[in-house]
Amino acid sequence: MCGIVGFVGSGGAIAAVVEGLKALEYRGYDSAGIAFASGEGLDIIKTKGRVADLEEKIPASTDSDVAIGHTRWATHGVPAERNAHPHADAAGKIALVHNGIIDNYAKLRKDLEDEGAHFASETDSEAVVLLIAREYRGDLVAAVEKVLPMLDGTFALGVVAADNPGLIVAARRGSPLAVGLGENANLIASDAVPILPHTRKVVFMEDDQVAVITADEVRFRADGKDVNPVVTEIKWSAEAAQKQGYDHFMLKEIFEQPRVLENLVRGRIALPDDISLPPELNMDGMEIPEQYFAGVSRIIMIAQGTAYHACMVGRNMIERVARIPAYPEYAADFRYRDPILDPTVLVIAVTQSGETADTLAAVRLARERGCKVISIVNVVGSSIARESDGVFYLHCGPEIGVASTKAFTSMIAGLYILAIRMGMVRETLSVNDARRRCENLVTVGHRVEGILSTANYVRGIAMNYKDASNFLFLGRGTGWPLAMEGALKLKEVSYIHAEGYDAAEMKHGPIALIDENMPALVIALKGRRYEKVLGNIQEVKARQGKVIAVASHDDNEIHKFVDDVIYVRADSGIMNSICCAVPLQLLAYYIACARGCDVDKPKNLAKSVTVE
Ligand code: F6R
Repeated sequence: MCGIVGFVGSGGAIAAVVEGLKALEYRGYDSAGIAFASGEGLDIIKTKGRVADLEEKIPASTDSDVAIGHTRWATHGVPAERNAHPHADAAGKIALVHNGIIDNYAKLRKDLEDEGAHFASETDSEAVVLLIAREYRGDLVAAVEKVLPMLDGTFALGVVAADNPGLIVAARRGSPLAVGLGENANLIASDAVPILPHTRKVVFMEDDQVAVITADEVRFRADGKDVNPVVTEIKWSAEAAQKQGYDHFMLKEIFEQPRVLENLVRGRIALPDDISLPPELNMDGMEIPEQYFAGVSRIIMIAQGTAYHACMVGRNMIERVARIPAYPEYAADFRYRDPILDPTVLVIAVTQSGETADTLAAVRLARERGCKVISIVNVVGSSIARESDGVFYLHCGPEIGVASTKAFTSMIAGLYILAIRMGMVRETLSVNDARRRCENLVTVGHRVEGILSTANYVRGIAMNYKDASNFLFLGRGTGWPLAMEGALKLKEVSYIHAEGYDAAEMKHGPIALIDENMPALVIALKGRRYEKVLGNIQEVKARQGKVIAVASHDDNEIHKFVDDVIYVRADSGIMNSICCAVPLQLLAYYIACARGCDVDKPKNLAKSVTVE
């Protein structure tokens, strides 16, 4: 939620910050702004709307050595120019960009107003800049360090002062902040993407650290003293964060899935030539002793949104393969429910960004209660990755489209690998079975490629349903979380109201909704529950509902009962969930495009929910 960028070098700061803000627009896009050092002090340009609108307001020849910028997702105060960042003190001497929420802002604001300060916005962030201005005596680092203990809540801050040109002071607590270490130029950003065109050397700041950034040097401080940073070399290139000819990031990321899944699986699974030997599974830096898996009484998987749906799929895998009771939980509910935990409970946090506020808080709570926490994370160096006992990185590259696609299928593959590993340790899985599952998983990229080759056909089906106002998604077994994910994808990018249900629930309520205006997408792959799902399809048809079935490639009968069929080549549990996700993503994408929606930046949404 909200993205911040800062650049200090010799020239080029405005272009770098504007480009950086474009790369961070997935974090929020209701308003944007920039502050930069000009000959006379600080200039601030802000606008309601997108970064492109901001760019139009910046005179073409403007340049500076230092700039900070912000793209906003409103929390305190409506989207409006006055609430856009950067915020400045009344004299315009100090400017600040902020990502996060200041919980004690009302009290800070009242105290400042009592002292005679005037607020120009309704934001919590303005209180922070006014406090820094109040404490400023020519040393920006000292002023920032004095104010930080006064703040409750979360922040990633970038601060500049008119009489300290060539300096950015940055600080973080709870909101992500990366510092790029370049040649003759250094940067800050909410994630690594804006930094990559300049350098691959990145420091992910720790909570309560301050960074003092000039063109030639970056110093990190904690508790008022200099500290040594951990420098990470980012492996993927700046190009990976571009659209590369696709109309939207969402489509690009859907089409990246074969390669992403293949890399994920091949990087983790080695199959010895001797078929009597078990597969070797590389768990990517995880340091959980194997005996620990053996002693687990229960697994709790915590996540939000799409990642939660991946956990629902993961539950089935873990229970089937490792025979450990597993419970997916919304992190937000878990953290406030006073859950019953003990050290035999293993907690698995699943998150693309590694920054989701509720998931992070749930990780902290679980560790406080003595549980080991493993995280399955995409973003390297993110808060949840750093705060877990072990990390399984998905390495699926930057996911820029707000609707999660490749991270979802990667999470399922990651959970499956984890389940196989646990099954091997606990000996609930024979060598043969482990091997068979791994051999199957190794082909997943290829299978997904086959499904993507039918994208035009799915687009044709999408045109039949683009004017729907409501949609049901139904499935049983692992088809149920897939139905929930399909409904979530459709509603978030096309704004069609959609509900995902366990098809077994239909008779317990949702069937009342069925009529000719309520299409249903039914996941109807062959398997144990196939006949039951066919029964559900008949029930929908009997009430004049239109049905799209996602069916097995060799189902020669189903077309007789439904209006449209999308065939997928999938014949095992893991393949089913990954393969079924792909046509659901495509359907949501094509329907949204047909309705003229802004697919990569759906209204009211932001990619990382770093506030509660
Ligand atoms: C939906 C979507 C969200 C996220 C959720 C958790 O397409 O992307 O529902 O899945 O906000 O985000 P992460 O995985 O970053 O914790």
